[in-house]
Order: sequence, then structure tokens, then C-alpha cells
Amino acid sequence: MNPWLHRIVSAVISLLLILQGGSALHINDSRTAEGSFLPGAVWNDTEGEPIQAHGGQVQYMPVPDGKGGQTCMYVWVGENKTGGHTGNPVAVYTSEDLYHWTCRGDVLRPLDSLDQIDSDPYFSKLYGDCTAEEKQHIYDCIGTHMVIERPKMLYNAASGRYVIWFHNDGPTEKNSYYYDIGMAGLAVSDSPFGPFRFEGRFRLSECPGGQIDCYPSSKGEARDMNLFADEDGTGYIVYTSENNKTIYISRLNEDYTGLSGSEYGVDYIRIFPGAMREAPVLCKAEGRYYLMTSSTTGWGSNQARVWSAEAIFGRWRNDGNPCIGRGRSVTFDTQSTTLFQAPDGGWIYGGDRWKGEDLADSRYVWLPAAFEDGRLTIRWEDEWKWEE
Ligand code: GAL
Repeated sequence: MNPWLHRIVSAVISLLLILQGGSALHINDSRTAEGSFLPGAVWNDTEGEPIQAHGGQVQYMPVPDGKGGQTCMYVWVGENKTGGHTGNPVAVYTSEDLYHWTCRGDVLRPLDSLDQIDSDPYFSKLYGDCTAEEKQHIYDCIGTHMVIERPKMLYNAASGRYVIWFHNDGPTEKNSYYYDIGMAGLAVSDSPFGPFRFEGRFRLSECPGGQIDCYPSSKGEARDMNLFADEDGTGYIVYTSENNKTIYISRLNEDYTGLSGSEYGVDYIRIFPGAMREAPVLCKAEGRYYLMTSSTTGWGSNQARVWSAEAIFGRWRNDGNPCIGRGRSVTFDTQSTTLFQAPDGGWIYGGDRWKGEDLADSRYVWLPAAFEDGRLTIRWEDEWKWEE
């Protein structure tokens, strides 16, 4: 977003927050979370360092047990924003109880320079066998000058490998704006703890003939995104396209490294054309699919909206704003990024409270979520525990 527009949007949002009591949601900012959820407070990992996993995803998934086998743990993957806006490494944390998180390091690393591929053994091992042209392309995609945002991970049981899809962006010759490329990046590894090898960046599904494309000059764009694996193992990528105007859901191929095909209604659908939604989160609860989204106001928060459907490529119903109580009109000053289940089966909403002027100090806001009578609700708590 352009800096002036960003300032105006932030001012309007602050005003909205004050008008409807949302400023009270920031009361706990200076506390440190440990052993309970303190939405918006500093959240340190088990080494005492602030967790860096923004725009991320939490899920219970298989991880190596260190003895050659597998065990299941909560895995939190997200953007390490200590370096600022661009070139964010993808970081991974693990936890047994959802309160205490152990840092597993940066599992997908950006390149400081093209030379680093040959001079740094970490990168030579991953990309040393590439041609000069391929190396240049890798640097052009995941150099520290490029956008690496909203990374999400899936474990593919058939291949035994882990994939990370992320929003890969940057300026073009035509436009110096950070988000002119609008592509989906892919990285693959044998372990959730990396190293992940960057495999390329892609445009995704395109508006089919006979439908109104809200941005026909740039086909197949993919920006804010999320991943979802259904109970039968089918993988999906959900993303904002058509210059952030339309959300798409596309089915992934068997090993989750590409799309399943290009047939509309079979391999993908576009939903809410022109609705201007982003930050999508897709999940399934009690047999129904839910898609939570934000509006498009950069780092500023806005009102969430949920759609739900009986079938993933079926008819999606507008369920409106899932937030209830104080702060509901600006999603409790957050932007959606994940929805997952605690060990007791209760749902947790995870949102980012972005700090545009100091992105590394952006906070996490986790709140209790519930699915009742086909509706998602999310409510504010100053402090809470999933097991209470
Ligand atoms: C938001 C998006 C973030 C980031 C930001 C940059 O709309 O959800 O992931 O791209 O814009 O302004």
C-alpha cells in the first residue's frame, strides 16, 4: 500500500478503535505471555526471545522424533520479521501445550546476495547444482529484497515430504510497488525443520471464460494465502487474486507441489468476485467448510467476514462478521491467519496485530473460537487458557 494511503487508513482505524472501545484491547501490551494466552502481549519462546512467526499457521502434525521415527506436535510456521518488511525467513516453532514454543530456526532462508549460493555451504548444498540462470532466478525470487509472506506448511503423507507455499512478491520493471509480481512461492523439505529448498514461484488458477474477471490484465495472481488439507488428504490452496479483488480456492496435486488441473468447478473455484478480501483461512468443523477473511487495508485492521459451505467447491454462504463483543468491528485489531483445534477439541483463532512502523514487534492475538449451528464466533478475552 502507498505510504500516504497507509497513514490515512491507520488514522481511520485508530478512530474506529477509540469509538467502539477497541483501544481497551491494548491494555495488556506490556505483559509477557507464559502458561496462558495473553492476547496482544509479548510472547517469548522457550529461550526468552520474542516469537517471530507472523502471518503464520498453527497445526498438529507429524514431526521427526529425533530417533528416526515420527511423533505429533503443534507446529507454528510464520514470517520472521526481525529484518523488516522484505526478505523474511520462514521460521518454525513447536509446542506440546500451545503456551510454550521452542524455536526450530529459520527453515526457508532468503539470500543476501547471488554470490551466497556458491560461498555459503548452507545454500550451495541446496542450490549448488543449479545453472547460472537458475541461480539468478532463485535470487530474484527469494533475495532479501523480495517479499516472502504468509508461509503455510502441509505434510504430504504419500511422499513423506513437507511443502511450504507462500506469497512471493516484489517490484517489477514497470512498478516499484512491493506487490507487483503477485505469485505463489513453493519450497519443499524432508523435514518440517528444514532446510526447505525453493522450487519456484507460480501464477495460479485463472478466471475462466464466461465469468467477469475483476482484473483481466494480470491473470493467475496469488497474494495472501493459506493451505488446507481435508480429511481424505486432498490439499487446497486458498488465495486472493485479481489484484486482491477475488478469492480463489484451488485443489493441489497429489504431492501438494502444484495444482491438480485447470477445470473450473473441479480443480478450482473463484468466490466473492470483487469482494476485495484477503488473509484467507480455510478450515472444516463438524462437516462444514469455513473461510475467514479480512478486508484489504494493509497493516491496519478491519472487519472480518466469514463464508461457509457444505462442499468446498459448492455454494458459499455469507455468514458476516464472526467477532462478538468489544473490538468486533476491527477483528479485535487483528488480521486473520489461522484457525486450529486445541487438544481438548476447542477451536482457537490466531490473528496478527501488525505494527507497520516496527513489524518485528507485531503481536499475536489468539482467542477462543466456536462453531455452533453452522456459524463461527470469536470472542475477546484479556487472558485465557484452552483447558479451562
Ligand atoms: C496486508 C497483507 C499482509 C501484508 C500487508 C502489506 O494486506 O495481509 O500480509 O502483505 O498487507 O501492506
